[in-house]
Amino acid sequence: MRYSALFCGFSLSCFLTGTGFAEGQWPELDLANADSTKSLPSKTVKIDRDPVYKASKEYQAYPLIDILKKIRIPESLNTDDLLIVFTAVDGYKVSMAYQDAYLEAGYVAFKDNAAAGHKSWLDFKFGKQTMTPAPFYLVWPKNGLDEWRYPWPFQLASITLQPAKIYFGDAAPSGGDKSVNNGFKLFSRYCIRCHSVNLSGGDVGPELNVPKNISEYFKEEALPGFILNATAYRAGTKMPAFDNLISDDEARAIVSYLMHMKLEKKN
Ligand code: HEC
Repeated sequence: MRYSALFCGFSLSCFLTGTGFAEGQWPELDLANADSTKSLPSKTVKIDRDPVYKASKEYQAYPLIDILKKIRIPESLNTDDLLIVFTAVDGYKVSMAYQDAYLEAGYVAFKDNAAAGHKSWLDFKFGKQTMTPAPFYLVWPKNGLDEWRYPWPFQLASITLQPAKIYFGDAAPSGGDKSVNNGFKLFSRYCIRCHSVNLSGGDVGPELNVPKNISEYFKEEALPGFILNATAYRAGTKMPAFDNLISDDEARAIVSYLMHMKLEKKN
């Protein structure tokens, strides 16, 4: 996985992207700073099957949207284009679409109700390590939400808002028409957690642009149908169906984005 964090490293390139922001200046909330959560109402949140503890859990937590309201969004940024980037204490980053945070109720937990005495958290095993989710852990009480759309980062340190075009720099089209750019927006909302383009993005599914663009070996006419319902093409595929989330037109916009990226290969 590779992210172009330095895309805006020089003020000239920032100026060229038209965002007017330099790296490190994106709207951000440092969760460790007491002011970030001061006077926020907290509540008890029940989780039927916590993916980290693999058990039912109960936490004390702040609603994610209340925390997001503390981050001032400059008028020059359009919330439709924004990602929420969660950064952990060790620098690990995971993102989700800003608009998705308003569709499902997420909570930033700060205490495990099962922890006794002066402890706020219980241990869990992560590979060979034993750790806790402290200081903060993002949880989603509704059952069955897709983890690639609603992530569960633990040991959360800060929350940053960044346009998808900046965060997934190499996967973003620098040219292209409206449909290409709309396709990228959809791709960064639904697909990029599993797929990379120009090696920027996730690695659960295959890279879709380098060295060969998907359209160079996959029939273009078949792509929208495959994207909407991969199981109709491939038995046992690991790719989820999208026909309940995206329209035919949106699938075609994603395809025009993917096709366009053939002209913008980077690796
Ligand atoms: C949860 C992970 C996941 C998500 C989300 C996902 N995919 Fe996939 N996708 C896969 C996997 C895994 C494969 C390949 C193997 C298979 O078919 O099981 C795949 C295959 C593909 C292929 C065929 C590539 C090839 O060379 O076979 C395309 C095209 C594709 N996905 C596009 C998309 C698009 C567009 C989206 C968003 C609308 C998306 N995928 C979302 C996991 C995912």
